[in-house]
Amino acid sequence: MENNSQVLLRAEAICKYFPGVKALDNVSFTLNRSEVHVLLGENGAGKSTLMKIFSGLYMVDAGSIWLEGQLVNIKNPKHSQELGISIIYQEFNLIPHLSVVQNMFLGHEPVDSYGFIDIRNMREKAREIMDFLKVDISLDAKINTLGIAHMQLVEVAKALTVNSRILIMDEPTATLSSKEINNLFETILKLKEKGVSIIYISHRLQEIKQIGDRVTVLRDGNTVGTHDVDKIELDELIHLMVGRKISQHRIRLVNTAVDEIVFAVDGLGQKPKLQNVNLHVRKGEIVALAGLVGAGRTELMHAVFGIDTYDTGKVVLRGKDITRNTPRKAIKAGMGLLPESRKENGLCLIQPIRENITHSGLKRITRFGILSLKKEREFAQTYIKQLNISCPGMNQTVKYLSGGNQQKVVLGKWLFTQCDFLIFDEPTRGIDVGARNEIYNLMNALAAEGVGILMVSSDLLEILTIADRVYVMREGTIAKELNGSLTTQEEIITYATGRKIE
Ligand SMILES: Nc1ncnc2c1ncn2[C@@H]1O[C@H](COP(=O)(O)OP(=O)(O)OP(=O)(O)O)[C@@H](O)[C@H]1O
Ligand SMILES: [Mg+2]
Repeated sequence: MENNSQVLLRAEAICKYFPGVKALDNVSFTLNRSEVHVLLGENGAGKSTLMKIFSGLYMVDAGSIWLEGQLVNIKNPKHSQELGISIIYQEFNLIPHLSVVQNMFLGHEPVDSYGFIDIRNMREKAREIMDFLKVDISLDAKINTLGIAHMQLVEVAKALTVNSRILIMDEPTATLSSKEINNLFETILKLKEKGVSIIYISHRLQEIKQIGDRVTVLRDGNTVGTHDVDKIELDELIHLMVGRKISQHRIRLVNTAVDEIVFAVDGLGQKPKLQNVNLHVRKGEIVALAGLVGAGRTELMHAVFGIDTYDTGKVVLRGKDITRNTPRKAIKAGMGLLPESRKENGLCLIQPIRENITHSGLKRITRFGILSLKKEREFAQTYIKQLNISCPGMNQTVKYLSGGNQQKVVLGKWLFTQCDFLIFDEPTRGIDVGARNEIYNLMNALAAEGVGILMVSSDLLEILTIADRVYVMREGTIAKELNGSLTTQEEIITYATGRKIE
């Protein structure tokens, strides 16, 4: 299996502790030359922590790292880069008011012989990388004008501006849809051919077989084992990862929808992105909104929630016209939005879990104008338990939770507000298989209580797992409505792209 000259990076007995948390407890890992090595594990297993050790962001508390047989002590991110390691972090690291090209070369801009930034050279290189990635984004676009998928692609492009021999990708496909994922995979294969080794983290399990050569499973900060991808079944990997068997089948067995419509959009238009969008959600129904990145799904959600304005159309919630409302009024009318980008819209990162959960529904814990901290703690505890949020306690600052556990806090927050209608924008983005099923079960439970749910999802398997009905969006309008229990991945893709897939 492993032959020493093949080994590029070796980490042995790595330990890393945070106050109250054993993030890594004796982890070993080897990366071969020119391989795609998948790192698998539940939310909070320690994947990102291990990567941050390789990238020089964290120092180890114990353990050793060898690069090409040499013992190295990675001191800081710059040192890691000099050693040929580059990383795409799970949470974005872009400067919002700078342009795409400025972000790509930030801190290592090419200079001319006078020491000035060589803008022409920089743009040429940037263009080359974008072409290599098959990405069509203007180099001058400011980051804060881009959608989340494009931000992710800029992160990838940025990582490619330095010639590295190890590229770490921490959940690069979480925000992408099938077309961009395929392009990214092509890029990964090309890099591999050039001799780059890739460490790849993802909760989308079907990707392991598509792209991985070997896979290492982490559980609770320990290495469970390393396997050749073609010698192990997915079921077995899941078992290793969560320590129990998990069903990957449809878990929406009963459609709890009643006739009463809770939410309706009628003829909504917003130039140039949306045209004549019509849809409705019944009480107790789970409806999915599918479509490629750029089809207008997020724009539509922002419009109906009142974040963005629109030109034509009507939005009705529980029989009440809420056309062109503000988000505040939408929440008051009984609507909740679990946003696509939790970092910007969903959470207050520097506050504890407790406050984040109760923030949008203070009324529930206030009596005679007085906030009950006791109640706040009780509710926080309930949701931490129900959602299985892995943390040292409810007072932990959200910033220090793993990505998936942050997403669970956002969910807890909306469960707490007890809405009649919830919009979930990519609800299980970055959430591990086990926790994913917990969230689907929760959605089932909410629907059974009569809540209407509209779920935007790029994950086709997820749609087939949980949706009663599916709207497929293409080019700013609803291209097709499908039955969630009867449709297939192929059918959804066909309508999303507008062409037949061979
Ligand atoms: N800076 C920090 N301070 C305190 N705790 C931390 C810090 N960074 C990570 N942790 C904790 O260490 C553990 C491992 O976190 P890590 O981010 O490595 O998980 P992960 O495997 O990447 O999970 P996910 O799939 O959710 O991204 C978690 O319990 C997390 O809360
Ligand atoms: Mg992580």
